[in-house]
Amino acid sequence: MRVCLTGGAGFIGRATAAALVQRGHDVLALDTLSPQVHVDPETSKAQFPGPVLLGDVRDPDSVAEAMARCQAVVHLAAETGVAQSMYESDRYLSVNVGGTEVVAEHAASSGCGLVLLSSRAVYGQGAYRCVKHGRVSGRRCCSLADPEASREDDRLAPVSVYGESKVKAEEVAVARCANKSPLIVIRPQNVVGAGQAPHNPYTGVLAAFAVRLAAALPPYVYGSGSQTRDFVDVADVAGALAWMAERVANDVDTDRPESVPTLVVNLGSGRRTSLRELAEVAIVAAGREGLEPIHVEVTRPGDIDHACADLATLAGTGAPMPTVGLSDSVREFLGYASSQSPVDPSRWDAALKELQQLDGG
Ligand SMILES: NC(=O)c1ccc[n+]([C@@H]2O[C@H](COP(=O)([O-])OP(=O)(O)OC[C@H]3O[C@@H](n4cnc5c(N)ncnc54)[C@H](O)[C@@H]3O)[C@@H](O)[C@H]2O)c1
Ligand SMILES: [Zn+2]
Repeated sequence: MRVCLTGGAGFIGRATAAALVQRGHDVLALDTLSPQVHVDPETSKAQFPGPVLLGDVRDPDSVAEAMARCQAVVHLAAETGVAQSMYESDRYLSVNVGGTEVVAEHAASSGCGLVLLSSRAVYGQGAYRCVKHGRVSGRRCCSLADPEASREDDRLAPVSVYGESKVKAEEVAVARCANKSPLIVIRPQNVVGAGQAPHNPYTGVLAAFAVRLAAALPPYVYGSGSQTRDFVDVADVAGALAWMAERVANDVDTDRPESVPTLVVNLGSGRRTSLRELAEVAIVAAGREGLEPIHVEVTRPGDIDHACADLATLAGTGAPMPTVGLSDSVREFLGYASSQSPVDPSRWDAALKELQQLDGG
């Protein structure tokens, strides 16, 4: 089959395209090759195993051209910096919601299956359980509560514009595709591994650690470091997304594709890792034993304390389950980052200052 990947030249897009090609499919990307993500757009383009159409997902003509003759579209194109979304909200809403609307509209009218990349950010503070209040979601009820894995039917309570944009993107996709075309909404946790832009200070925490470690500087950990995240390897995510793309394409081929129910699925490792632990794993993987993480008192706007996915729905779909361990992912990412042009750590200091100013601190 032929699969269109919007944002296909990005981190998850390139890995997913590789997984699809390995399974015998043709792939095509629609991407703006945004300069914040791609320092070297030509290399990103060359790393995509198929044609890359330069265009914006908000432009119906570009989307129609990219999706022509495709049985499935994996919609990844988005603005992805949680903290940045708090002060560039118009751009985030326009790309993430407006772009999804155009893609979903085209999928529905052309009978193409849609796999939409949402995010765990839709859960905001996530779920907690305590002896007094039972299970609550979207906030911590009291100091007795411990974090729990988020389930797909939990209350959606985003705390960032990025999270809000993903809630709205899910809504417009469901509104456009329901009773017309198969739709699977995926909510990934923190994706890590080879191919992640090491120079984009507004995205992954691991990229931030890597830049400082490469310069033999201790990584900055924001806050106490006891915050937890669910890190999932990009190869595992790519395998699951390729499987989902096949599934929506098969559903298009059934007698009544309009009757296929929308599926919403968490994607993570199901394991909780503290940021302090991640910094320690990264220090060892980088061969910088002896360095101690530096704690910086800054709460990044839109940040949350704990995140972890409940994977029961994913397991129920029959999709391949994540298997790669955290230290392998971190090693792969650091290996990849060191093969890229070195990043000046002051770029990160500038981003940190920007965030501290926003914080009033
Ligand atoms: N990386 C993660 O940890 C993570 C976690 C949860 C959800 N997601 C979601 O997965 C998707 C892919 O994320 P990623 O980590 O690969 O990000 P990325 O930034 O590496 O890739 C996004 C791609 O989209 C392109 N793009 C941006 N705006 C565009 C537009 N208007 N039109 C066309 N292309 C555009 C960029 O050039 C880039 O190639 C996003 O929707 C993101 O929100 C990512
Ligand atoms: Zn409580």
